[in-house]
Formats: sequence, C-alpha cells, structure tokens
Amino acid sequence: MIVKAVKFMTGEQMNVTVICGSLRKESYNRKLLDLMKAEFPEHWEVEEAFLHHIPLYHADVEEVGTPEAVVKLKLAMMRADGVIIVTPEYNNGMPGVVKNALDWASSPPAHSALTHRAFALAGATPGSGGTALSQYQVRQTLTAAEAYVMPGPKMLVAGVAKKTNKDSGMLEDEKITRHVRKFVEAFDSWMHRF
Ligand SMILES: Cc1cc2nc3c(=O)[nH]c(=O)nc-3n(C[C@H](O)[C@H](O)[C@H](O)COP(=O)(O)O)c2cc1C
Repeated sequence: MIVKAVKFMTGEQMNVTVICGSLRKESYNRKLLDLMKAEFPEHWEVEEAFLHHIPLYHADVEEVGTPEAVVKLKLAMMRADGVIIVTPEYNNGMPGVVKNALDWASSPPAHSALTHRAFALAGATPGSGGTALSQYQVRQTLTAAEAYVMPGPKMLVAGVAKKTNKDSGMLEDEKITRHVRKFVEAFDSWMHRF
C-alpha cells in the first residue's frame, strides 16, 4: 500500500519557544527568526523568550533566589514542547549571552529547563561559515544538559547581508524560505518523538 507523505505528523498543538541570541535591534538573526516565524504552522503556539535582562550567572545570587528574568526564561522553556535558538557566531563560538542563558536554564540540575526537551538551532552571519561553529558549541552545551538537539536539517545562513532587502530591512530569499519549511516540518516530527 502506498501511504501519501503528510506534511506534519499530526495537527496537534505544539508549544514552541523561540530565542534570538543577538540583542541588537537590526540583528540578522532576528531577521532570520522573523522569516522563520512566517513559515511556522498554525498548530504551533509560539512564545518568544528574551535574553536582554538575564544577569551573569552567579551561584551566590541563585542561592538567595533565581532572578526574575531567569525565571521567565525557564518557564518559557518549560512550557514548550520544543525550543528554537537562532544565534550569531562570535569568534568561532556562541555569544556569551547565549552560553550564560543556557547555564542559568540548566541550573539547578533537578530543575533544569533543558533536560529531556527538544531543541533546534539556526543562525545567520554575513560571513561564509553560516554559524556552524557557534551551533556546534550550543549543541555541545545542550547535550551536556541532556537536551535532545535535532541533528538535521541544519539551518546555516551564510552571506546574510546580501540576502537582506535594503529598503524593507527584511531577509528575503526564496531558497532560505524553502529550507525553513523543511526545517520546520522536521522539527515538528522531532518534538513528537519526546
Ligand atoms: C565579537 C565578534 C566576533 C565575531 N566573530 C564571528 C565569527 O567567528 N564568525 C562569523 O561568521 N561572524 C562573526 N562575527 C560577525 C557576526 O556574524 C555579525 O556581527 C553578525 O551581524 C552578528 O549577528 P546579528 O546581526 O544577529 O547581531 C563576529 C562579530 C563580533 C561582534
């Protein structure tokens, strides 16, 4: 019997939290996230968590009480069936704000927001590497915290400045959009595994 391929496993509601690893207003990674959001299916309930007010990880502070911005971040992750992190690359690694946020989210281990949760990674750079090294580091950190990071398809956007419309300021690229559709479909079934 031939079974026709279905686009999404089920139309069941999935809660997805998205995080942008760049704090700047005109961030290319923000533009990529905006492009991705436009391709998210209707059955995804999407929430964005922001890293702007996350303080530096400090165990003494944590002992007294988890800061409000961190509580918000952890709850947004814990509500989610899956989390998508869209991050730049700095010096062949992930930005400090991303590592810092993941450290807070993983702590204390008994209340980690990362453990046994589905994650997917994406990133954009004006350079040629597509943020591969940054994503490799994020994957390493998430794996240490026993998160389930989607192995593929990878979402690596190189030369992003050239693909951004100077008038609208938006990332506009048919090839990227087509790839985002595949990525979103794959993440939908990845989340269903757990
Ligand atoms: C400190 C620093 C280091 C950087 N290192 C890299 C790098 O290793 N690889 C890369 O592709 N881009 C690198 N860049 C360029 C960033 O990709 C670029 O600034 C990008 O626009 C940042 O992402 P955003 O636009 O989302 O803020 C670096 C930028 C900064 C500020």
